[in-house]
Amino acid sequence: MMNPRHFISLLDLSSDEFRTLIQRAIELKSARQPDFQPLKGQVLAMIFEKSSTRTRISFETGMTHFGGSTIFLSPRDTQLGRGEPIRDSAKVISSMVDGIMLRTNDHVMVTEFAEHSSVPVINGLTDLLHPCQLLADMQTYFEHRGEIQGKTVTWIGDGNNMCHSYVNAAIRLDFKLNIASPAGYLPDAEIIKSAGSRVQLFDNTLDAAQGSDLIVTDVWASMGQEEEQKQRELAFADFQVNQSVMDKANTDALFMHCLPAHRGEEVSAEVIDGQQSVIFDEAENRLHAQKALLELLMSQ
Ligand code: CP
Ligand code: NVA
Repeated sequence: MMNPRHFISLLDLSSDEFRTLIQRAIELKSARQPDFQPLKGQVLAMIFEKSSTRTRISFETGMTHFGGSTIFLSPRDTQLGRGEPIRDSAKVISSMVDGIMLRTNDHVMVTEFAEHSSVPVINGLTDLLHPCQLLADMQTYFEHRGEIQGKTVTWIGDGNNMCHSYVNAAIRLDFKLNIASPAGYLPDAEIIKSAGSRVQLFDNTLDAAQGSDLIVTDVWASMGQEEEQKQRELAFADFQVNQSVMDKANTDALFMHCLPAHRGEEVSAEVIDGQQSVIFDEAENRLHAQKALLELLMSQ
């Protein structure tokens, strides 16, 4: 492939492409055709520097459904972990496979890899962004409530990779995003600035949830921040999504969480296991949304 199309950020999709991808994901979910194998014989390499349940299973299953296969690579068992340069690894791996998914700590590893890859590179989560999760989250919102343009979404908690991808989704799908994060854990200022007046920052959860159509949160300590757990528990103590927060939102508001979740920390059990929660649709939709993504990037 001369100029492979990568998916590093949601901003790599236009608004129209994002909406089309969501509709395609809904279509693929509704009627699985075993004979439809647009990626027959193709191989997706998956490099995981961090743990994963959903991302790994959804990409492996998606490739299998489409007639292709995957190779799971851990830096522990490859030369990447022994310091082989990223650019050499990208050239070598991309000379043998048809697509590469990476889950890394450092975002720059994915962008550098993409620069030297001759096949599409997909961001399966970095410290900065988690765009694949947003494809599934937005599919889930459209399935339950329809168009999200003009609606209000509230992010509560850490200004992390998920939060940044929500900002990018707000830009592309044109919704309002209220963000409530404790001091010291705000999202990246440049990313917030890029969304203009669509994004509003709050210092408390109740004001942020007022009039919201979707409440979203994530763990207080992400992968790689485990040693900060205790300090974060103190900082985030007033930033739990509980019933009082949900009661401030619109009556038909949904609750989402990318999972894995810590009940009793960022979300109460009552909310995550309650009527407004759509977490398991959201998790399943990783499969359907990423199949639509693989089709867009890899099928000619
Ligand atoms: N939500 C998500 O990316 O889950 P995994 O870490 O299990 O892949
Ligand atoms: N913010 C979390 C998301 C996990 C899917 C993390 O990076 O660990």
